[in-house]
Amino acid sequence: MRMFHTRDTLKVNEKGHLEIGGADCSELAAQFGTPLYVFDEAYIRQMMRVYRDTIEEEYDGNGLVLYASKAFSCEAMYAVADSEGLGADVVSGGELYTAMQAGFPAKKIVMHGNNKLPYELSYALDCGVGTIVVDAAAEADFLDSIAGKREIVQDVLIRINPGVEAHTHAYVQTATPDSKFGFSVAGGAAEEIVRYVLQKKNLRLRGFHCHIGSQIFEKQSFVIAAQKVLAFVAEMKEKTGFEADTVNLGGGFGIWYAEGDPMIAPAGYREYLSALIAAVREGCAAYGLRLPRLMLEPGRSVVGEAGITLYTVGNIKNIPGIRKYLAVDGGMFDNPRYALYQSRYTAVLANRAGEEPEEIVAIAGKCCESGDLIGTEFHLPKAEQGDILAVLSTGAYNYSMASNYNRNFIPPAVLVKEGRAEYIVRPQTYEDLVRNDVIPARLK
Ligand SMILES: Cc1ncc(COP(=O)(O)O)c(C=O)c1O
Repeated sequence: MRMFHTRDTLKVNEKGHLEIGGADCSELAAQFGTPLYVFDEAYIRQMMRVYRDTIEEEYDGNGLVLYASKAFSCEAMYAVADSEGLGADVVSGGELYTAMQAGFPAKKIVMHGNNKLPYELSYALDCGVGTIVVDAAAEADFLDSIAGKREIVQDVLIRINPGVEAHTHAYVQTATPDSKFGFSVAGGAAEEIVRYVLQKKNLRLRGFHCHIGSQIFEKQSFVIAAQKVLAFVAEMKEKTGFEADTVNLGGGFGIWYAEGDPMIAPAGYREYLSALIAAVREGCAAYGLRLPRLMLEPGRSVVGEAGITLYTVGNIKNIPGIRKYLAVDGGMFDNPRYALYQSRYTAVLANRAGEEPEEIVAIAGKCCESGDLIGTEFHLPKAEQGDILAVLSTGAYNYSMASNYNRNFIPPAVLVKEGRAEYIVRPQTYEDLVRNDVIPARLK
């Protein structure tokens, strides 16, 4: 049995076609065209519930799960997160605007960013964003002054960097000593900013935030991070008298992309959360702290395995003794992760999903870049022009990282529920591509 057969989201139907959420991928490709992002709503909700229910059942509901919308941000995603009782983590004015357009409750939004711009912070206060995570002293100054002008007191957390090395790609590690994120605990910067923020009249410090990185499978990394954050809470209580009432431990749980990755979704994530919650409880007991409100910010694990991308196979180039390339109608403009991190993926011929693999091929995009690949080692049956290729686990950091490079269209996205698919992101048009272009009069 092939790997993906064991997953709830995906199966091979009686026609030998790949199905996602009850929808036949060949039919989706015929109906909506390719490239196409396809998301399984049931899976997204299942994952959200694993997080929400674990906090409910193992932490007396004293917390809030924030969907890290950088993983996949569009209005429908905020609507789904809201309907499941989640909050949202946003990292830009654009994500915040999208959430607001979807009617998301601002109070349940946490805003991040290592360089939030003045207009983004002002907009956040205008919207009434619940919590802002401070990542620089200058930001605390600016936030305090604009909160003062509005005669409000803004809840804030401070992003600390406790110095945890997690086993993942260097670009997605965020809590090592050399990081652009957060205030280092070891160097004393974190203590300094705590004292600084506590003096601000229009900021109410609620606690600390820490996010160690992404695509992490070692439970111990999360546990160590929780322990270090609680040790810092205790240290600050002792040194400054301030006891955090909120601790946000970020996201970062890994997902299955390809053979060799653990397949833990969806129920297996509970073990991670239980270990984390136990570490928080133990830390509080050991230091004599009251249990803080616990925030978590999963992104990739909520939406990553829920999504696939459908392409049509175009030109096939066999270079004897070197490699066979299947070119598809997408590429780094809809999925830049191979170009960025040499990310691994699994691909399936969606219209011939029951067939055994016969060869190893590279999948190339259509951009003018040799590095425009989805990957180089895909085990597939002998593909032909016109076959529908599904790349799995593309739900996170694909659409959200997409671009119009080479003036290609960012593909549309559909959400599938019980076999029915609807657009959640409509297709772009040529007019969209030139919408903001201007030819100065002197060039006409
Ligand atoms: C602050 C913060 N929270 C949450 C996340 C979500 O992480 P993931 O998608 O790995 O769960 C990220 C992503 O890097 C992040 O920077």
